[in-house]
Amino acid sequence: MAAPVMQALVRTMRLEARDVISLELVPAPGQVLTAFEPGAHIEVHLPGLVRAYSLLNAWVPDAPRYVVAVLKDAKSRGGSRYIHEQLRVGQTVTISQPRNNFKLDESKPADAPTVLLAGGIGVTPLLGMMRALSSQGQRVQMVYCARTRQSAAYLDELQSLCNARVSLHTHFDDEQGAPDLSKLLAGLPSDARLYACGPAPMLDAFVQTCADLGYTHAHIERFAAAPRVEDAAPVEGYAVRLQKSGAVVQVPPGTSILHALIAAGHHPDHSCGEGVCGSCETRVISGDVEHRDSILSAAEQAANKSMMICVSRCRSGELVLDL
Ligand code: FES
Repeated sequence: MAAPVMQALVRTMRLEARDVISLELVPAPGQVLTAFEPGAHIEVHLPGLVRAYSLLNAWVPDAPRYVVAVLKDAKSRGGSRYIHEQLRVGQTVTISQPRNNFKLDESKPADAPTVLLAGGIGVTPLLGMMRALSSQGQRVQMVYCARTRQSAAYLDELQSLCNARVSLHTHFDDEQGAPDLSKLLAGLPSDARLYACGPAPMLDAFVQTCADLGYTHAHIERFAAAPRVEDAAPVEGYAVRLQKSGAVVQVPPGTSILHALIAAGHHPDHSCGEGVCGSCETRVISGDVEHRDSILSAAEQAANKSMMICVSRCRSGELVLDL
C-alpha cells in the first residue's frame, strides 16, 4: 500500500535564489491538507518518479498550504528538472501527507541551545525549525553554508528571525573557502541539540565532527541514502513472522523484507526504497535486526523498537514484525 496521497494545486512558483524555486501548494477542490510540524516533508509524485521535499512554511490551520523549495540539480534524475522546466502554476500534483523523521527534540532542557547547520537547499527544514524556536524565545544558532551568496535561498527571512537569542552565521565557499565544521561547531555545551541538513559529504563531516567534539544530541536529514559498505559474505535467507496475520514469509538472500512481503501478496506502506523516507517503518516485536537506514539515530537503532523494512534486515534467527 502506498502512503496516503491527495491532490494539491500549484498556487505560486517563485525564484528564491539562483536555481532555487519555491512551490506553494494548496488543497485542490474537495481535498484537505493535514497539519505538520517543523522538519516534516512531503512526497511529490511526478511523472515516473516520487521525490521528497521538506516543508519550509509554518502550518496555519486557517490558511492550509505546503511550501517547498527545489534546487535545479545539474545531476537531476528527473525530479528537479521536471519541476523547474515543466511544472507550472495552476497544475495539480499528487502529494503524500506530511511525514516527519526530523522532529525537534522535545526532551531538550529548557535553556539548552539549538544549533542548525544548513548546507545549500538543506536550509528548507531548518528554516521552519528556526522560525518555531525563535517564536518560543529559545537560544538558536543557525550556521548556513552555501557555495555562493546568490545561491543561498531565504537569507532575508533567516536574518529577520534573528534577535538577542537567535543568531545567523553564513559561510559562502566562493568567499571563504570550504567550511571547517570543527571550528564552526566548537565550544557548545554538551546538552546542545544539533540538527543538520545538506549534501551527503557535509552530513558525513557533521556526524564525525559531533562525535569528535562529544556532542551526543545530533540529528540529520539526508536527501539520499548514506553510502553503505556491503557485506563481504552473502546474507543467509531468513523467515519473517507477521504477528497480526500469523503469516510467515521467507526472505531469500539478497532480497529486502519489503520486496519479499510484496511478492507474498502483502501490501506494506513504502515509498523511497532507500531507507530515507520513513514510510516503511515497522514495529519490531523480536529479532536480531541489522539496521541499514538513514533515519533512525544510533540510539533508536540500538533500542530496536522499529526498522525500515526496505533496507534493514535480520542477522540471524526469526524476525517477528507487528504486521
Ligand atoms: S520505503 Fe522509504 S524508508 Fe523504507
